[in-house]
Amino acid sequence: MRVVVTGGAGFIGGNLVHALLGGGAEVTIIDDLSTGSMDNVHPAAAFRCLDVLSPEAAQAISDAHPDVVVHLAAQVSVAASLADPAFDRAVNVDGTRAVAEAAVAAGARRVLSASSAAVYGEPQELPLTETSPTAPAVPYGASKLEAEGVIAEVLRPAGVDFASLRFANVYGPRQRAEGEGGVVAEFASRMARGETPVIFGSGSQTRDFIYVADVVNACVLAATHEGVLAHPGVSGPAYNISTGTATSVNMLAEGLRVAMRYPGAIERADAREGDVEESVLSPAKAADAFGWSAAVELQAGLAATGTWFMQQS
Ligand SMILES: NC(=O)c1ccc[n+]([C@@H]2O[C@H](COP(=O)([O-])OP(=O)(O)OC[C@H]3O[C@@H](n4cnc5c(N)ncnc54)[C@H](O)[C@@H]3O)[C@@H](O)[C@H]2O)c1
Repeated sequence: MRVVVTGGAGFIGGNLVHALLGGGAEVTIIDDLSTGSMDNVHPAAAFRCLDVLSPEAAQAISDAHPDVVVHLAAQVSVAASLADPAFDRAVNVDGTRAVAEAAVAAGARRVLSASSAAVYGEPQELPLTETSPTAPAVPYGASKLEAEGVIAEVLRPAGVDFASLRFANVYGPRQRAEGEGGVVAEFASRMARGETPVIFGSGSQTRDFIYVADVVNACVLAATHEGVLAHPGVSGPAYNISTGTATSVNMLAEGLRVAMRYPGAIERADAREGDVEESVLSPAKAADAFGWSAAVELQAGLAATGTWFMQQS
C-alpha cells in the first residue's frame, strides 16, 4: 500500500508513519515543518518539505501514486485561530480542498482527514455522537467542520472513499508541550523538568483523553477497511475517535504524578475563558464501521508518555 501522510512530521503523523512503515507500507510525507520536526520523520519515508497549499504539494501527491492519503496537516492552535481566523481557514479549509483535489487527480482510492471534537463546541448532550449538534465555539472548530464538508464535496462525486476522523484529546510520545501541546504534554514536560504543573479552574472539567497509538490504529484500520463509507453523515462520514470515558483534569494530573513519581506540588490558577466544562465522545460508530476501539488504558498511556518526556528532558 502506498500512503501519503500530510503532517507526517507532527505528533500524530510521526507516530502514524512509523506504524505504517512497520506494516510494510510505502510512505510519502508532506509537511512544511511549521510545527512538525525532522526528529519525527522516519528515515525510510520519502519526505517533501512543502506547504499543502502549494502546487508543488499537489505534484508531490501525484508523484507518489498513493492508494490512500491521510490528511493531518493543519493549523492546530486554538489560540492562533482566534488571533488569525483567516490564516486558520486558509490552511484548514483551502488546504484540505487542495489535498482532496490532488488525491482525486492522483487516483487515490481513499482519503482520511483529521477532524476534531472542537466541531461540537459546548456539548448539548453527552456523550457526543456524530449526530450531536455541531456548534464550534472557536475558529479552529469551525474550519475543521467546514473541512469535513469540503472533503465530502470533492470526493463523493469523484467516487473516492473518505472519512473525517474527529479526534478527541490525543496524548502520547512526540507531542509538543510548547504552544497548544495539550494538557498531558504540558503536565508531563513540567513534571519531567521538576517544574510545577498548573491546573486552570477546579480541575473537575472532563475530557476524553485518547492515547496516540489508538489514534494511529484507527487511521490504519480506516485506511484498510472495506466499506468505510457505510455510514454517511450529514456532510460526510464522520467518526469520533475517542475512548467514551470522561477523565477530569484532576484525575489526569494525579495519574501522571503517580506514573512519573513526581514529588512536587500542583498549582491552581483561575479558569480560562471559553474552556468547555465536560466533554466525552462516543466511539460506537467507528467500532461499528471499521472495527476499531481504543485499547490503551489511561494509566498505561500516561506511563508511556511520562517515560518519553523523561527521556527528552
Ligand atoms: N492532538 C490532538 O489532540 C488533536 C485533536 C483533534 C484533532 N487533531 C488534528 O490532528 C491533526 C494532527 O495534529 P497534531 O496534534 O499531530 O499536530 P502537529 O502540529 O504535531 O502536526 C501538524 C503537522 O502539520 C504540519 N503542517 C501545518 N501546516 C501545514 C501546511 N500548510 N502544509 C504542510 N504541513 C503543515 C506541521 O508542520 C505539523 O507537522 C491535525 O489536523 C489536528 O487538527 C489533533
